Amino acid sequence: MLKIGVLASGRGTNLQAIIDACNDGRINAKVECVISDNKNAFALERAKKHGIASYYVDASDRREHERRMDEILRSHDVELVIGAGYMRILSEWFIKQWNRKIINIHPALLPSFKGLNAQKQAVDYGVKIAGCTTHFMDELPDHGPIILQAAVVVKSNDDESTLAERILKVEHQLLPRTIDLYEQKRIVIEGRKVRILPGDSWKEKYSYPDVLYSEGY
Ligand code: GAR
Repeated sequence: MLKIGVLASGRGTNLQAIIDACNDGRINAKVECVISDNKNAFALERAKKHGIASYYVDASDRREHERRMDEILRSHDVELVIGAGYMRILSEWFIKQWNRKIINIHPALLPSFKGLNAQKQAVDYGVKIAGCTTHFMDELPDHGPIILQAAVVVKSNDDESTLAERILKVEHQLLPRTIDLYEQKRIVIEGRKVRILPGDSWKEKYSYPDVLYSEGY
C-alpha cells in the first residue's frame, strides 16, 4: 500500500477525498500523516477523526518549517507527498528531497492562472473554460510536469465562489485518480511531459461529473 503524506493549509476537502478513496478501495494507498502550516486548519481535524497522525508545523522560519516537515514525512516512511491546498511556496531544497515524489493540485488549467485565487483570476479574465491540474512539483511554483487536467465550463453568472465550488468537485476526482496512477506505476516523466501508461479508466469504472478529463483519467 502506497504511503502518503499530505500537506494542507485549510479546510482539507481534497484531503478528505483522498481518505475516502483509500477507504472505499478506489486507491491502494494510506494517508500516514497530515502536516499543516496553520494550526486552525480543519484538515488537521479531519486527520484526527480518521486516526491519522496530524502535525501543525510553525512556518515563521521557512528553513526550520521545511526541515521539520521533511523529518516527519521520513519518520512515517512516506513514499508520496501530496500538496492538497498547501498554500506556501516550497524551497528548492525541499523539492529536491522529494524529487518526483511530490504532487500538487491547482484549481486552474496550468499554465494559466498560477498562484493564489486562481478561480478569481479565471473569472476576472473572462475565460470560458476553467478547470484543475495535478502536476509534479518542481523548483518553480505551479510549474512542474502536468499529470492530469480536467476542464470545467465557466457559466455567465459565475462568481469566484460558484466557479471554485464546481472546480472543487472535479478536484476531488482528479487528485485521487492521480494518486492511483502513481501507485499503479503508470506515470512516466519524460522531460516536461508526463506519459500515462495504458490500463484501467475511471471514466469507465465510475460515474463522475460530466466534464472533460485528459487522457489517463
Ligand atoms: C483547492 O481548490 C486547491 O486546488 C487549492 O486550494 C484549495 C484547497 O481546498 N490549491 C491551491 O490554490 C494551491 N495553489 P481544500 O482545503 O478544501 O482541499
